[in-house]
Amino acid sequence: MRAQSPVAPKNGFPWRYARPAVALSLLLFATPSGFGGPAAFDSSRLAELYERMSAPQYAIGTKLVSLLGISPGSSVLDLGCGTGQLTSAIARIAGPRGNVLGMDPSSYRIAIAERRARKGLSFAVGGSDDLPRLAPRSFDVVCLNYVFHWIDDRRQALEAIHRILKPGGKLGISFEDTSRPAELDEIIEQSAKEVLGTLPPGLFLETAPLGLAPLKEMLRKSGFQVVVIEKVASEDRAKSPEELLAFWRASSAGRFLSGVSESTRRRILHRIEQRLAAAETGQGIRITSETLLLVAVRSGAPEMQARSAGSLGKRCRVINRASRR
Ligand SMILES: C[S@@+](CC[C@H](N)C(=O)[O-])C[C@H]1O[C@@H](n2cnc3c(N)ncnc32)[C@H](O)[C@@H]1O
Repeated sequence: MRAQSPVAPKNGFPWRYARPAVALSLLLFATPSGFGGPAAFDSSRLAELYERMSAPQYAIGTKLVSLLGISPGSSVLDLGCGTGQLTSAIARIAGPRGNVLGMDPSSYRIAIAERRARKGLSFAVGGSDDLPRLAPRSFDVVCLNYVFHWIDDRRQALEAIHRILKPGGKLGISFEDTSRPAELDEIIEQSAKEVLGTLPPGLFLETAPLGLAPLKEMLRKSGFQVVVIEKVASEDRAKSPEELLAFWRASSAGRFLSGVSESTRRRILHRIEQRLAAAETGQGIRITSETLLLVAVRSGAPEMQARSAGSLGKRCRVINRASRR
């Protein structure tokens, strides 16, 4: 299969995708890496931390990739690619004739990912809101490893992914079912309440819940047919409360506990640390989780959705639950 460039035919990508360093000053204003977007709270320190601590996400990601039928020459978008470790593994399968693009709204993460760029593998700063800039029907596969729950307007993102996938193309999503209560969520919420008395609007504790049944329904309405669902039970062990909290900050690109002043955040973090330390066994903190791997095929056309409010995402951003991924 001949890999096609998903956007501008000559350089592969428009200037703002191809040269994030050159375009930095404009990017700050024009993209989500600037003010208010999903990467607004990220930093090079958090990006480096994620690069070092994300082995569990990589391990699950390779399982998701194995379900997607990627072959030499495939064109693949890894949306929310982070620092590009999984994207690089995908490119090893697609080979030099393939066309693998990793996109992430954080320019800090893309700066690390670009060290992995080579023939058949490129990276660009951009998030789900930027998908309309990509050419229609240009990818065989779109992969979102621990990313979908971070997207505010999920339905809009699925429709945009539907547009850029070739007919019969595959979408892979890995996620934890956050529609059920979790012990860690409780610890975080209680700690924040203890420090603040109440949960102020704007304090970011967790993404909007994501459950399997609503996701399947959303996929159906967006023109996808779910063909695979697998559950993977995993166990992580954080050496200390500090390590766990550092991971949450890195994994959420700085969004976890954002929206309050630095000093307030430190007080909440300190309280969470104390509570987690109390729950420690002497062998670190054991975190069991169940990840769902889902593969859907682009089938029919998306059902029309009412665009009026378009604010579901905005409302979701302040729903208070704890972030594990
Ligand atoms: C937990 S990390 C997963 C990174 C990578 N997929 C991996 O497997 O290691 C979540 C990533 O989603 C990105 N992200 C957040 N909001 C996004 C959006 N709206 N569109 C695309 N990516 C987004 C973050 O910048 C972050 O790199």
